Amino acid sequence: MQDTPEVVVLRLGHRPGRDERMTTHVGLTARALGADRLLLSGTAADRRESVDAVTDRFGGPFEVETTDQPQRVLENWSGDVVHLTMYGLPVQEVMADIRRRFQGRAGDAAVLVVVGAEKVAFEVYEAADWNVAVTNQPHSEVASLAVFLDRLFEGGELDRDWEDADRVVVPEAEGKRVEDT
Ligand SMILES: C[S@@+](CC[C@H](N)C(=O)[O-])C[C@H]1O[C@@H](n2cnc3c(N)ncnc32)[C@H](O)[C@@H]1O
Repeated sequence: MQDTPEVVVLRLGHRPGRDERMTTHVGLTARALGADRLLLSGTAADRRESVDAVTDRFGGPFEVETTDQPQRVLENWSGDVVHLTMYGLPVQEVMADIRRRFQGRAGDAAVLVVVGAEKVAFEVYEAADWNVAVTNQPHSEVASLAVFLDRLFEGGELDRDWEDADRVVVPEAEGKRVEDT
């Protein structure tokens, strides 16, 4: 994980009411599986507190930022842009190229991983360096983000250390043990 550039997840779109949990789960998945930052736009910005609350309790580093102009962020991004979409190229075919490009480039411009909610504008497909599919079947932004990050980090994110946590889960075969740090 340490020899890759920073990974930022951009959540595009958010339907108030319908997408509250989904947007929160995009953030929690990004955080848990090794991304460094989450960018929320429009009404999705309301979910910031829920994700920040988890980072406060269970540790970071993980930042949530908001933008009113996600399309501009995307078009002006100085690093690589990966858009997760069922219409893209299979992750198992492009991942080696993507990883090769990222490895050993820590400190370079951050990688932007884009996931949608409802229909994603065609400009997003054009702005992306890679349109990547986790199967060409419709499913969810949370699932595709999880698979993509795990493949990007080759499982290394599962062993990361968390900083400044108020509490930590102690793994147990049975039961639920949480300790204050
Ligand atoms: C519920 S889907 C909506 C997709 C929408 N029908 C469209 O045309 O873009 C929400 C998001 O999940 C992600 N997603 C869904 N299926 C995917 C797949 N097979 N591979 C990669 N990402 C996927 C995409 O980021 C998509 O924008």
